[in-house]
Order: sequence, then structure tokens, then C-alpha cells
Amino acid sequence: MLVNFIEMMNKAKKGHYAIPQFNINNLEWTKYILEQCNEMKVPVILGVSEGATKYMGGYIAVSSMVRGLVESLGIEIPVCIHLDHGTSFESCKNAIDAGYTSVMIDASKHELHENIRITKEVVDYAHERGISVEAEVGHIGGTEDNISATSLNATLEDCLVLYTNTNIDSLAPALGSVHGFYKGEPNLDFETMDIINKKLPIPLVLHGGTGIPNDKIQKAISCGISKININTDLQAVWANAVREFLKEDTKAYDPRKVIGSGEKAIKNRIKEIVTLFKTKM
Ligand code: 13P
Repeated sequence: MLVNFIEMMNKAKKGHYAIPQFNINNLEWTKYILEQCNEMKVPVILGVSEGATKYMGGYIAVSSMVRGLVESLGIEIPVCIHLDHGTSFESCKNAIDAGYTSVMIDASKHELHENIRITKEVVDYAHERGISVEAEVGHIGGTEDNISATSLNATLEDCLVLYTNTNIDSLAPALGSVHGFYKGEPNLDFETMDIINKKLPIPLVLHGGTGIPNDKIQKAISCGISKININTDLQAVWANAVREFLKEDTKAYDPRKVIGSGEKAIKNRIKEIVTLFKTKM
């Protein structure tokens, strides 16, 4: 069942657990995530960046692929197709028009008033069509597509101003997490996270889930985080498994075998993550 994230994330906020957002890279990735989450009976958000969308052939290709897999595999859990870090109104509109059920507008590189203007334009378009919207305040840096390396932490005031002026459905406040692997121990501002969570009626999102130690993930959930984004982690466990496979079978050439040699590793890691997040229906 394809849905926006509103109901699943509001339930997570109330129930003190987190919904996983796993970013997808291709058909196999999508299939493994859907199968594993369906087996565990937990809702899932499939994150698709602009770069990953382009890689897989565009918005319509991604939306049709996910819809096709959900139907052919008989997936029964709630599934959200979410544009990750949409950089403009146009890319959010393209995603929505193609059938994504949710978007993130990341206008965090702009001044707050411009972030609000762009976010509000996206919210108006999305809400008329039943699509959920996530926005970002401060700036979460790192090494992914379209994201600049420098981070800037969010303030409560900016979060409140953005929320009250846009009516977004969830917010990712930058509070020390980064995309990709961490250099050293991640330094998350749990105090501000807790305060923002208590003042805002909408669920909060933690980007850069890869490499955050388990106790800090649990602490973030206890401070009100309702969705945690994971990308690099699954890429790394998949790549390690495929490297091992190719080392052992130097004559392998069938792409189904090569790509598929990472299936178990991805599924096992998803199982660990979902258990850590205490995700429920
Ligand atoms: P990681 O690649 O660090 O897991 O971050 C994913 C993310 O936040 C996608 O928006």
C-alpha cells in the first residue's frame, strides 16, 4: 500500500519509536528493502535523492518500478516513496506529478525567509494532492548528492518560524549529524533536539543515520526523533559482501549473481536497524 508518511510518523512520535528511511539505488535494493520490511511487518520510507532518481531513469521510472514491485511481490505494509533532499519547487513538483507520495524540500542552503518561501510553495502544491512534506532547518553537511559539506546547527526559533509559516508535516533540524561516514564520534545536540520536539507538534527526522552508535540512536529516539535516514550503511554492507563474493568466484559474470550476492547482507542489516529503531505498524 503506497501512502504518505503522515500517519506512520505521527504514530511513531506518539509511540516513541522511529520509522526507517532506507535510500534506494536500483531495483534490487528496492526489492530487498520491501521484502525484508514486509516480512517484519513494519512500515518503510524509500528515500530517493535527485541523483538516485536520475541514475534509475527519472521520476516516472522510479515511481513505476516501486509501484510494480509492491504489486508483484504482494507487499502489504505501508510504503512511502519519498524524494530525499529535493533542491527546488520544480523537482518536488516533478516527483509528485510522477507519483512519489512524499517529498523533502531542502532549501536549507538559503536564508531562512527564502527557505520558508520555497518550502511553503512546495507544501501548498503537495497538500492539495495528499502528499507529505519534510523540510530542513540549519544545514546537514556531508558527502551525498547535492549536499554541501559544511554543517550549521538549527535553533528552536528558526524551527518554530519555519513550521508556523509553512505547515510542513515533519522537520529535519540539523543538530550535529552528517551524511556519510563520521570522522570520529558523532556529536549530536540532544538537548536542543528534546526542546524542539516538545515545542513542535510535528515529528522530527534524523539524517545521517550511518555510523551513529546504537546508544545515541536510542537517545535520539527518546528525544523525539521519529524517522532516521540510512543510506551509506546499506551501501557499505552490500559492497563488502559483493567484494567477498567476487574474490571467491573470480569467474562470476551474471549480474543477477553479482548484485544478488549482497542481498543477505542488506537484509540482515535492515533487520538489525528495524530492531534497534523498535519500528512498529
Ligand atoms: P547516511 O548516508 O549517512 O546514512 O545518510 C542518509 C541520509 O540522511 C539521507 O538523507
